[in-house]
Amino acid sequence: MTGQNMSLVGRQGELSRLRGLVTPPYAESRALLLLGDPGAGKTVLLAEAAREARSAGMRVLAAAGRESEQDLAFAGLHQLLRPVLDRVAGLPARQAEALRGAFALSEDPVPPDALLTGIAVLTLLSGLSDDGPLLVAADDAQWLDPASLDALAFAARRLEAEQLVLLAAARGNVPPPGFERDFPQLLLPPLSLPDAGRLLDRQPHSPRSRARERVLAQAAGNPLALIELSKIIAADPGAGRRWAAEPVPLTGRLSAIMTARFAALPGAARAALLLAAVADSPDLTTAAVPGLSVGALAPAEAAGLIRLDTPGPQFTHPLVRSAVYHAAPFAERAAAHRQVAGALRDRPDLYAWHLAAAALEPDEQVASLLEDSAAQAQRPGTRRRAQPRRAGQGPAAAGRRRSRPPRRAGRLGTRAGGQGPHADIRPGAAHRRPAGYRLVAAVVEPERRRAR
Ligand SMILES: Nc1ncnc2c1ncn2[C@@H]1O[C@H](COP(=O)(O)OP(=O)(O)O)[C@@H](O)[C@H]1O
Ligand SMILES: [Mg+2]
Repeated sequence: MTGQNMSLVGRQGELSRLRGLVTPPYAESRALLLLGDPGAGKTVLLAEAAREARSAGMRVLAAAGRESEQDLAFAGLHQLLRPVLDRVAGLPARQAEALRGAFALSEDPVPPDALLTGIAVLTLLSGLSDDGPLLVAADDAQWLDPASLDALAFAARRLEAEQLVLLAAARGNVPPPGFERDFPQLLLPPLSLPDAGRLLDRQPHSPRSRARERVLAQAAGNPLALIELSKIIAADPGAGRRWAAEPVPLTGRLSAIMTARFAALPGAARAALLLAAVADSPDLTTAAVPGLSVGALAPAEAAGLIRLDTPGPQFTHPLVRSAVYHAAPFAERAAAHRQVAGALRDRPDLYAWHLAAAALEPDEQVASLLEDSAAQAQRPGTRRRAQPRRAGQGPAAAGRRRSRPPRRAGRLGTRAGGQGPHADIRPGAAHRRPAGYRLVAAVVEPERRRAR
């Protein structure tokens, strides 16, 4: 789906606003938060902004939140700063140490310090922008881990005259935590009816007459829905009548389409696609996990569910990943998590996370592994620590209400309590140990990753 059409339909106002941000003069640092429904076109607009930024001579640092990494502290920041990690050595010593601590790259581990990490990010970005204009682009910010979001928001609020532009995109119409204030927002509206029609005209099987009206009505200006519903109605002209009869929210309708396409694949392709959904990482190449081969995934590529022309397999849209993940029964998902864990033994945080996801109940042994992974991640050669979501927030809290933790896991849960929304940006706040229990509770809640 992504990259299908080189030029976008409509969105002139949005494009010119983005162009204004990423082209000279860069008098002061600027930020913009793109909000909108799944499929509204946030990712393509960010990509277009990045393309224009590059051609205007900007350096681009980009990262995208992933559902599976939202509990790994500083995973997003690590992704963003990976190309410039050599600059960390040039930071003031304590800031460099904090940043290395956050990424667990330190020879001599220090407890993570959120305030110093935020300052280090600010110094680093500001230094980079001294060399030339810089675009920081964060997609799917709703899935960035809270520690990374806090550090980014902290830095972005303090940028002044730097030639730096921060673009973030997030699902829904509410900014992610930390970005509620001080950040201009752009909510992507539905495409106008004429633009929706233009997008339909570009489809390989553009619907006609009644079918076209039904697609336009159902999709309600959502580009992803226009594209996917056109495919469905081309294959099954009666589908439109059923849509009118069953009022289903659009995201649910799109998920059902992806699920049906997944269910129609041959067994080996389904198994491979589930592994890709479970791995949820472009870093995990097809060679790393047995069963996740390009050959096995080929039918899924032909069905438009995944792209294989990228370094690691990449779902055509996060909704596809989510639909595939939830279409599989728990036992199959758990087996896939164990298989992926087996390929990640050198990454204690992810290894523990996948084992936890495979556990039906909060499990003493897994809680202990998660605790160990937090300790191990402090050693050189490993990168990040699994860290809980904030207390009382999100599916982790729901999971906690639903299941009684085992003794040790319960102890961990208690220890991490009481973190407010900005507890991280306070000296010493991050000295708290990660909470194995809360993470386990989050991953055993089977509905937790449903598309929002
Ligand atoms: N204005 C547009 N013109 C043409 N195609 C679009 C437009 N906006 C989105 N698309 C297509 O719709 C699909 C969903 O867009 P995407 O950017 O992934 O949405 P989001 O990131 O908001 O979920 C992609 O295939 C994308 O290429
Ligand atoms: Mg997107």
